[in-house]
Amino acid sequence: MAKKKRVAIPSIVMEDQFGYAGDPKNETYFHPKPKVLNIFPVEGDPELLAREALKRDLSNVKKIRIDPVNTCNVACVFCTSDLTAKHAQISLDTIEAILRRTSQTCVRISVGCIYEPLMAKNIEKYIQIIQKVVSDEFPKKPKLNMVSNGLLLDKRKLDFLNYLDWLHISVHSHKKENFEKIMRKANFDTLVSNVKNIRKKYINLNIHLEFVVNQKNKNDIEGFIHWAFNEMNADSINLKRVSTDSFDDKSYLADSINAKDVLGLSDEEWNSVSKKISKSWPSKLTSAPAYSSPDQMLKRSAMTDVIEL
Ligand SMILES: C[S@@+](CC[C@H](N)C(=O)[O-])C[C@H]1O[C@@H](n2cnc3c(N)ncnc32)[C@H](O)[C@@H]1O
Ligand code: SF4
Repeated sequence: MAKKKRVAIPSIVMEDQFGYAGDPKNETYFHPKPKVLNIFPVEGDPELLAREALKRDLSNVKKIRIDPVNTCNVACVFCTSDLTAKHAQISLDTIEAILRRTSQTCVRISVGCIYEPLMAKNIEKYIQIIQKVVSDEFPKKPKLNMVSNGLLLDKRKLDFLNYLDWLHISVHSHKKENFEKIMRKANFDTLVSNVKNIRKKYINLNIHLEFVVNQKNKNDIEGFIHWAFNEMNADSINLKRVSTDSFDDKSYLADSINAKDVLGLSDEEWNSVSKKISKSWPSKLTSAPAYSSPDQMLKRSAMTDVIEL
């Protein structure tokens, strides 16, 4: 049961980013000539980041990370985002303006980075705008992915899936009880049926599953790998060590920490996970640093480890 296809993406240096979710109004993070643009709606002034970005020199932008909305339908115990803000959405016109300004250099677009992209009822319109500007102005189609919890796939118009280079779905256990304990408010059966349906309908779509390893699911890993490849027919997966170092004060991770619910893994525990997996999956293993925390923005620093299969 080999991984079937992996989209090869050259890594993009995570320095020189514009926009930081932990402090969206802080101009320190409004880089004058960014390589990476983080565009998400800010409560009370949804277009703030996009408006400020358009005032900067965008001739160096390689990657755009877009969140159309600032909400989520799930409450993961380790989520580092602030999900208490009032609903806000970025307009399609604004996204179009950002894309037109970055068309000559941008090689990668990621939709859904901090919040849940399928919470936008008109999510297909965002992908259609990307498709239109790419076809009008980009010299080469950028790699396009969406990161989602997958639970609203049955509620949205999905024609856009054919245009994605891959769909990244976060699934943190193959056991219903653990899944629902970690991804609170989510229903495991809905997730399974959604993934199976898109797998059947969009045969060429790259489906990538991400599993965030923490205290609640560390014993599910081997079973998850088999389930992901054999039952869900995923094309690739990655196991990411949960990050507990940096989070928004109003996040579910902050609540878990305040409730003394320990989620993080010790280095010994993580090493033993890595060893176990290298033993059973030696030829399919690569590892890479992930950049997902606050000091991340302006300097390069590995925050959590990732095992990719
Ligand atoms: C913040 S979510 C946004 C997209 C979407 N809602 C989802 O969950 O896929 C982006 C990714 O960050 C991961 N993530 C959230 N909190 C994390 C943490 N404390 N450590 C490591 N990864 C985390 C999620 O599992 C997900 O794969
Ligand atoms: S990690 Fe969980 S709670 Fe956070 S945005 Fe994604 S699905 Fe929502």
